[in-house]
Amino acid sequence: MLYKRMPIEKESPEEVGYDAIDYNLSESSVTDIRFEELNVSLEALKLEYIGHRGHTAFRKMIAAEAGLDDENNVLLTAGAAGALFIINTSLLTEKDHLIVVRPNYATNIEVPVTIGCSITFIDLAFEKSWKVNIAAIEAAITTATKLISITSPHNPTGMLMKEEEIEQLIAVAESNNLILLVDETYRDACFKTPYPIMAQKSRNVISVSSLSKAFGLPGLRMGWLITQHTELMEQFLAAKEMIHISNSAIDEEVAYRFWPQKERFAKAINNKCMQNFEVLQQWLQKEKRLECVMPQGGVVCFPRFVSNIKVDTEKFYRILMQQFKTMVGPGHWFAMPDTYMRIGFGWIDQPTLKTGLENISKAIDASEAL
Ligand SMILES: Cc1ncc(COP(=O)(O)O)c(C=O)c1O
Repeated sequence: MLYKRMPIEKESPEEVGYDAIDYNLSESSVTDIRFEELNVSLEALKLEYIGHRGHTAFRKMIAAEAGLDDENNVLLTAGAAGALFIINTSLLTEKDHLIVVRPNYATNIEVPVTIGCSITFIDLAFEKSWKVNIAAIEAAITTATKLISITSPHNPTGMLMKEEEIEQLIAVAESNNLILLVDETYRDACFKTPYPIMAQKSRNVISVSSLSKAFGLPGLRMGWLITQHTELMEQFLAAKEMIHISNSAIDEEVAYRFWPQKERFAKAINNKCMQNFEVLQQWLQKEKRLECVMPQGGVVCFPRFVSNIKVDTEKFYRILMQQFKTMVGPGHWFAMPDTYMRIGFGWIDQPTLKTGLENISKAIDASEAL
């Protein structure tokens, strides 16, 4: 496969250097947790090869949360990104067809693009409140369609699909003998997702998630996929074994010890995020040069410049970064015009968020053509 680096990774804050950014509004996760906060001692941990499916007791806990009693329905992966790579490369070849929602987290699109399969994009529109057009997905199915790929809560918009809508897609997947991939990486971030983990509903569904976004542990690289489809699971395991045999013993042990504490962390994290969300809302009400469909899930939103102003976007992002040391996610990270930007409100503290948002207003002042 001919790999090409994605702008969202090339230009990411960790690649730019965290030290160069004072106001980091480009993150899609909550505040990163320090190892010491977890109260985990690893001295006795043997650094051996570990079970290829992943830590059994940890998988049992994830399966239980998904309403499943078989831990072999869960495969631990290197982040949700690892799960998405395994699923896409296992299911899709050049001869296959994929239906995928756009915009999206780049990997959900770029891995299939790299595979070279044919793709129907289901474009979400600001004017339609980023709502997924279920009928359009159904109409796009061909005899070559293997996979339908959705993300809910959605990155970069924060849109949350309704349970009935996903159920409709599950019925479509079952009746057409397809697989429905539901990227649920943001399901526990900030707002509570009001429906169960979708993999419990059907053999045709694969759920993907991780500890990165909702719990601030992206450096663990701990994610998973869940499916009741045993033949597919065997194939996913084969893919994982070919890529890296097993995960890191350290990552899995830390994740396993974190899991029973997660509700305690989640409470403080979500309180902070909701307060930050309030700050964001107040700023957006004041900042009339941007319009936004407010998010219902996750810790990001995807506003755009209103159409009756002219902003030199190249100048805007340059000034924002160089003069105000403030970073947001420009539209092109999501194959969208740079008149859109992703603002993350969960990662930073409230004073930093307030100043970062004011800096966006100042950068618009400096780049608006009067
Ligand atoms: C929708 C979505 N899925 C998956 C990922 C990958 O996250 P990770 O590999 O850190 O779990 C991201 C990261 O931004 C994402 O936004």
